[in-house]
Amino acid sequence: MIGVAAAGYRVSITGIGSYAPERILTNDELSQMMDTSDEWIVERTGIRERRVAAPDEALSDLALPAAREALEQAGVSGAELDFLVVATVTPDMAFPSTAAILADQLGAEDAAAYDLSAGCTGFMYALAQAYGMIAGDLSHKALVVGGDVLSRILDWSDRRTSVLFGDGAGAVVVERVDDGGGFLGFELGADGGGGPQLFLPAGGSRAPATADTVAQRQHFVQMNGREVFKFATRVLVSSAEEILNECGRAVDDVDVYIPHQANVRIIDHAVKKLGIPSDRVVVNVDRYGNTSSGSIPLALADARDEGRLHPGDLVLMTGMGAGLTWGSALMEWTCK
Ligand code: ACO
Repeated sequence: MIGVAAAGYRVSITGIGSYAPERILTNDELSQMMDTSDEWIVERTGIRERRVAAPDEALSDLALPAAREALEQAGVSGAELDFLVVATVTPDMAFPSTAAILADQLGAEDAAAYDLSAGCTGFMYALAQAYGMIAGDLSHKALVVGGDVLSRILDWSDRRTSVLFGDGAGAVVVERVDDGGGFLGFELGADGGGGPQLFLPAGGSRAPATADTVAQRQHFVQMNGREVFKFATRVLVSSAEEILNECGRAVDDVDVYIPHQANVRIIDHAVKKLGIPSDRVVVNVDRYGNTSSGSIPLALADARDEGRLHPGDLVLMTGMGAGLTWGSALMEWTCK
């Protein structure tokens, strides 16, 4: 699906927050745990270190500080929220939703709250939902969280997957703005046929947890790296081109480009193909690895902290991930 923002309410991000666990896991430490090396990981992925949640930290523990920071920047209280969505593939538990847990912690008593599953693209899907809710006048103050604790679903004996990912969460407040700008459009898509390229086989209704599924390590991420690489390089470019075209903007107009932080080689490929100057690209995968739904909001927070987001800037964000899914948002930045 693709669409430009409807005439009427302008809707934008008014606050950003992020949180990553304290524990830093370096490539050298991984080299002591499995047959890999800092050299291999940096050359193939650009990742140097990632954060790993403490044993007693669940997704809501990462989401809560991120949410509080976003609310503080926006000057919105938890009680004012009427819509709260958490994009994740690693909720605290299957149910209740992490969003409901978070709503309770934030005092958002009147908010609709639910989790959304769209792989690493979840944050983009959730942003589009918040936009739609507000543009349709169903919501007035929304909190969108993207976060994952992928360390819990990685097979730490599999060097092909475990070196790629990390834990982290980000949050944004979305609401109406008066002075123009904000979201210009979204492009979202999914190719379920590609699902087997990146999946977690057991633990759902297809293969409930049994001693056998545990013994066969079916509760961990399984990925065909090369196929995902091809998919990722293709959709990062096509989704960005489509949304720019739909909104009547050119690549040259983009001031800040925030691609999903999966792998520096994937980002470099997209940047080259699109022709975006590298100083307009936000990259932090070297410090966090691929944090799945946390990736784009963590990068947004970094861009804000580095003073790279100014009112009026054209910001392009594109995510891709399990599903296989992809999604882009184009917006004119409005907050300071
Ligand atoms: N350390 C050392 N060697 C390794 C490691 C490792 N961690 N992992 C794999 N290798 C070996 C392989 O066993 C293979 O050895 P062989 O030739 O003796 O068989 C060799 O390295 C090359 O393996 P390839 O899989 O061909 O390596 P490639 O260049 O394709 O890089 C990678 C692998 C980094 C996984 C790449 O395919 C990739 O980035 N894919 C996309 C993955 C991704 O981003 N997934 C998430 C996106 S969606 C989302 O965010 C959920």
